[in-house]
Amino acid sequence: MEQNDFSKQIGWPLAAAILALVTIISMGLTLISCSEPPKTEIIQPTDLSPEEQIKRGAYLVNTSACHDCHSPKVITPNGPEPDPEKLLSSYRADMPMPEIKTEALKDWVLFNHEQTSAVGHWGVSFAANLTSDETGIGNWTEEQFLTAIRRGKYKGLEGSRPLLPPMSGR
Ligand code: HEC
Repeated sequence: MEQNDFSKQIGWPLAAAILALVTIISMGLTLISCSEPPKTEIIQPTDLSPEEQIKRGAYLVNTSACHDCHSPKVITPNGPEPDPEKLLSSYRADMPMPEIKTEALKDWVLFNHEQTSAVGHWGVSFAANLTSDETGIGNWTEEQFLTAIRRGKYKGLEGSRPLLPPMSGR
């Protein structure tokens, strides 16, 4: 059969359409294979030793901004940093509440200078004490912690009030 016999038999327009279709399908397949998300390894807590779990927890806390609100601050040459003596202990018990400029609340949400409390349309909220002390979350079960984080429930108890902003964002 001559080179062009196939095209002659089925006609040029149909041959061109088949060629275009094959090209589009192969381009599509290439795109799909390139856009597949990179495989990430999911680390289960049970895969880790207790020491590794603590290290992983510290990594998550340090990279997820928990200190921004839950730790009192000290002023360093680099600006405010979490107070290493008081990590995750929330609003300093001996610090008087600053005056609330209610006029500003019409347009703004205000934080105190340590970012451990905030005032807005919901009222005043204080970042919770997250230390492992019994006044913090030391007595909590893992289930309570998950309920607080995933379902936004105060003290991690089903049926308790929703967590206030800025923890909840509502
Ligand atoms: C923008 C400020 C902010 C950030 C960032 C933040 N929190 Fe909070 N968090 C709060 C406030 C304020 C409350 C108290 C809300 C309330 O009383 O309803 C709170 C409450 C909680 C509670 C509930 C405590 C209780 O007694 O019910 C847990 C648990 C918690 N935060 C964990 C975390 C963790 C873990 C991180 C980091 C991943 C984090 N928070 C980041 C402001 C923040």
